[in-house]
Amino acid sequence: MKTKTVYSCQECGAQSQKWLGRCPECEAWNSLVEERPVPATAGAGAAAASAGSRYALAGTAGPRLYEDIDTVVSARLTTGIDEFDRVLGGGVVPGSLVLIGGEPGIGKSTLLLQAAAHFAHTTGTVLYSSGEESEHQIKSRGERLGGLENARAPLYLLAETCLERILEEIARLRPSLIIVDSVQTVFSLKFQSAPGSIGQVREAATQLLFAAKGQNIPTFLVGHVTKDGSLAGPKVLEHIVDTVLYFEGEKHHSHRVVRAVKNRFGAVSELGVFEMTGKGLRAVPNPSKLFLAERPANAPGSAVLCCIEGSRPLLVEVQALVSTSSYGNARRMASGIDQNRLSLLLAVLEKRAGLNLLGEDVFINVAGGMTVDEPAADLAVVGAVASSLRNRPIKPGTAVFGEIGLAGEIRGTSQAALRLREAAQMGFTRIVVPDGNVALDEAPPGCEIVPVKNVGEALDQLMDW
Ligand code: TYD
Ligand code: MG
Repeated sequence: MKTKTVYSCQECGAQSQKWLGRCPECEAWNSLVEERPVPATAGAGAAAASAGSRYALAGTAGPRLYEDIDTVVSARLTTGIDEFDRVLGGGVVPGSLVLIGGEPGIGKSTLLLQAAAHFAHTTGTVLYSSGEESEHQIKSRGERLGGLENARAPLYLLAETCLERILEEIARLRPSLIIVDSVQTVFSLKFQSAPGSIGQVREAATQLLFAAKGQNIPTFLVGHVTKDGSLAGPKVLEHIVDTVLYFEGEKHHSHRVVRAVKNRFGAVSELGVFEMTGKGLRAVPNPSKLFLAERPANAPGSAVLCCIEGSRPLLVEVQALVSTSSYGNARRMASGIDQNRLSLLLAVLEKRAGLNLLGEDVFINVAGGMTVDEPAADLAVVGAVASSLRNRPIKPGTAVFGEIGLAGEIRGTSQAALRLREAAQMGFTRIVVPDGNVALDEAPPGCEIVPVKNVGEALDQLMDW
């Protein structure tokens, strides 16, 4: 039988009957690659049928009445690493498919091996399938980690890249946790394209999804990221899986942040903070302390922000450096906050607070490589910029949060009580907050709450300028 060739875009997954130099969907150049799909007989219909029959194992064949369906509160399984459980939304959900992305060398394999070891000790058989390292390499990493000495734990390592072989081993071992490191190295015999191409990755993810859902086995997939930091190849992958976690952090720092960008079983943008030590990744129980550790006392241009990441309040230091530009065009650079937001805030400062920033270079950095994307960071950014411009430190013991509108007004933010509590716990005694947020009964003891209505008022309260 004649198999029809299709060309798939490696960037967005769009398909075309003939080769094109540029993808008509996402306009990426030279991204179409030839792929031979499954022979026509086992095409879409058959695949769907087999998918259906596998799902039937989980008892979901055919429509059922809402009220007839039992609520299954399946207990979450713990990975033994608090911060990892937290990003997952409180532990691993049985039958869930979790994708973990991140730069090479950031610690994906390390974290998963640690979780695998704990799982093998406490819950049952674990299958760790790696297409990137040999069993010996994984074992020698394990030796470094320690805590894996107990040879009795049923942790199986498999150096394999063939999808069918991995599925075979899953069927044979019936593990209670599967790890596939990485999904880009897995290839199916059904396709002729190279491992890592979009057809292969999609097939691997889909088949593993069936295995996970059908047999109720939680599965972790490691995914590579591309140069620009998104998960390699496929957005399709993000749609298939239940949870997408990203590793963030700089190689030069020892701490790592794992963030949930999609989670069907928990809050998104939940984050876990780890430190890479000589014995693997260790959970950091008090991240605010870590992020504020190197904060210079009484230095101009440094403001402490109470932000919320997922369900967790976090204190971070926002730093600004304002210096007279020696070029015609003043530069504005932001790391850790959105560049456009910075431009907007600088315009508000000029117009509403009368600061002259025209000929000044402005650099913003969130200390510790954190990224903050909530508008509640505005007031801290503005405070840090004004403090650096006037060379006046922010009053000691002061933390801040609040969104700024274009008219220079300070707008209320969500979860104010949580932010206040965290700031008080970290020893801050004055907290500058949006006027709309004051509910003084929420004020933690020993903490002065300073409500402000507009930018000018906020700057008055933050520093003597
Ligand atoms: P790894 O988990 O192999 O990264 P990934 O799978 O994301 O590519 O992490 C490798 C890095 O972590 C490597 O640079 C060494 C460092 N590391 C430690 O510092 N301590 C340790 O105990 C281990 C196992 C790794
Ligand atoms: Mg790895």
